[in-house]
Amino acid sequence: MPAPTIRRATPEDAEALSRIGAETFSETFGHLYPPQDLRDFLESAYGLEKTRRDLADRAKAAWLVEADGEVVGHAMAGACDLPHDEVTPTCGELKRLYLLKRLQGDGTGSRLLAEAFAWLERDGPRRLWIGVWSENHGAQRLYARMGFEKVGEYEFIVGQTRDREFILRRG
Ligand SMILES: CC(C)(COP(=O)(O)OP(=O)(O)OC[C@H]1O[C@@H](n2cnc3c(N)ncnc32)[C@H](O)[C@@H]1OP(=O)(O)O)[C@@H](O)C(=O)NCCC(=O)NCCS
Repeated sequence: MPAPTIRRATPEDAEALSRIGAETFSETFGHLYPPQDLRDFLESAYGLEKTRRDLADRAKAAWLVEADGEVVGHAMAGACDLPHDEVTPTCGELKRLYLLKRLQGDGTGSRLLAEAFAWLERDGPRRLWIGVWSENHGAQRLYARMGFEKVGEYEFIVGQTRDREFILRRG
């Protein structure tokens, strides 16, 4: 199979981005939450109207991964809004990075990460941040290899569930 392709998402991709966002989040983390909490979260984070607003926001960028004509992953980056005292308006954040399970472990996530970092640092090196679930050891290894270090923690709230999240920083 040819390597998956990566391209910037445009406002016309709102439906595709909304769909793959909900699908990959559910596949990765859906088991952690009661079904109604998960549905409410998906609507607020990946619903069509929210996705349209994200794509219209010039301070954010999103990417789609495609394989065999199908959307199989996505990423999003923008200004950092993680809750940490040292975040400033010039800080960038990798906000999302997801592939469908069947595409994982083949180097595509690293390529997607490189695209997002290149966009975040298009005007030169910049302090970058990532929030990651404390139990997501695979992603933490990937980010550590890219130079990220844990500098804090916060609670990521989905309905009644409070997840322990690590705050990572580079630069
Ligand atoms: C994180 C993710 C995008 C990485 O993409 P990938 O194509 O699988 O990664 P690559 O093949 O480029 O790099 C492999 C590294 O990714 C990480 N990784 C691999 N599978 C993973 C998984 N299921 N979940 C999280 N990280 C994973 C590991 O660090 C791995 O390196 P290792 O083999 O030395 O442990 C992808 O695995 C994924 O979508 N995971 C589920 C969603 C997720 O956890 N997103 C991060 C949210 S902060």
